[in-house]
Amino acid sequence: MAQNQNNKSDLMGTIVSLAKRRGFVFQSSEIYGGLNSCWDYGPLGVELKRNVKDAWWRAMVTNRRDIVGIDASILMHPRVWEASGHLSGFSDPLVDCKKCKERFRADHLENLDRCPKCGGELTEVRRFNLMFKTFMGPVEDSSATVYMRPETAQGILVNFLNVQQAARLKPPFGIAQIGKSFRNEITPGNFTYRTREFEQMEMEFFTPPDQDSKWYEYWREARLQWYKDYGIKPEHLRLRDHEKDELAHYAKACVDVEYLFPFGWSELEGIANRTDYDLKQHSQFSGKDLAFFDDETKSHYFPYVIEPAAGADRATLAFLVDAYDTEGEGKDERVVLRFHPALAPVKVAVLPLVKRDGMPEIGEKIYRDLLDHSIKSFYDHASSIGRRYARQDEAGTPFCLTVDSQTLEDQTVTLRERDSREQYRVASGQIVEVVGKKLREAMKFR
Ligand code: GAP
Repeated sequence: MAQNQNNKSDLMGTIVSLAKRRGFVFQSSEIYGGLNSCWDYGPLGVELKRNVKDAWWRAMVTNRRDIVGIDASILMHPRVWEASGHLSGFSDPLVDCKKCKERFRADHLENLDRCPKCGGELTEVRRFNLMFKTFMGPVEDSSATVYMRPETAQGILVNFLNVQQAARLKPPFGIAQIGKSFRNEITPGNFTYRTREFEQMEMEFFTPPDQDSKWYEYWREARLQWYKDYGIKPEHLRLRDHEKDELAHYAKACVDVEYLFPFGWSELEGIANRTDYDLKQHSQFSGKDLAFFDDETKSHYFPYVIEPAAGADRATLAFLVDAYDTEGEGKDERVVLRFHPALAPVKVAVLPLVKRDGMPEIGEKIYRDLLDHSIKSFYDHASSIGRRYARQDEAGTPFCLTVDSQTLEDQTVTLRERDSREQYRVASGQIVEVVGKKLREAMKFR
């Protein structure tokens, strides 16, 4: 049964407790009372998030001839953030309540007269820079100040010439990166949706200036399609163009891919036309000419940058929420996570029907074989088969394989598919081939 729209406000709470119970996400430092807005991925969560990042990397780098990857450091020269505009402009308007001391983003409040929580008086609006500061080396003064990067994009932009020359690329081409970013958000919240430490998946696509609109259109559609390809229901996705007054100072156009979270339509990813702003700024601030010289046409120009910027944690949360479904009614209601097979943390569960008659040994052998072929699997011989199926549905495992008494006679096992509930027999020696083929088929369009 699809999750009822009326239960939406409860759904987030249900997801948070399921995430903890099944080991998707735990609160950071929980035994010390937790650290606000910081989360740890557990055994299932880390697989899910890795699969999301791998799916992104496949679509953006592995399967393309025009995009390469990098892995830049989190700490960068402080001048980077002057050039990018983050030091002067990366701030949110902030007010404090003088009575209860609660802090709010001024642009999220309808009324700046009174505290929405206790009615107390609010302070004047102040700008609050979102970058985390730290010191490099033993001396803690302003000359040693460095910042935790608030976006991965700048690590790509400052490496434009290095990558272009080393990989002998000519625009249009892209540079992609996945990595941690840090923002001292004033109002983090909604579980892993807005946190202070998060992972981004960003790609800067460098185009000749006269091709910017074409590539902007291309990436808007391509990025929306990616979420659909990996199973998010199309009616839960939309593109929202930014109004002119919403645009960042560097952007000519920007669109958000939004997902209908239980807390409303919210940004998953932004696709921006950053123009030639960044390369020009870094040229000016570093004194190094980052313009591209085209040998064929003998032209010298600053490429425009089209940037699809996604969040790995937000995407993972959206895939988790969208996969959530239930079957049965009342006390028989059970959770089924309908992950796309490419994203599912575990692909196959191997379940001997009973713990005797040689069934565990056969199961162990199949399990070993699956692992040897890099098919992430799980072996479980405890409790009733119904309960074991239910646990696997709740973890989103697309295939369950049962070793039963017929296996002892004809060396076949039962393969059960999570979504269709279809069950059929497969020769135990062919499991790797059959499941491997099904997984490849499910992933074929990428
Ligand atoms: N380089 C452009 C840039 O960073 P952004 O819209 O600020 O653009 C891109 O960030 C994506 O990074 C967002 O769409 C979101 O998925 C993710 N993101 C940004 N801030 C985040 C936060 N505080 N917590 C979790 N994810 C965040």
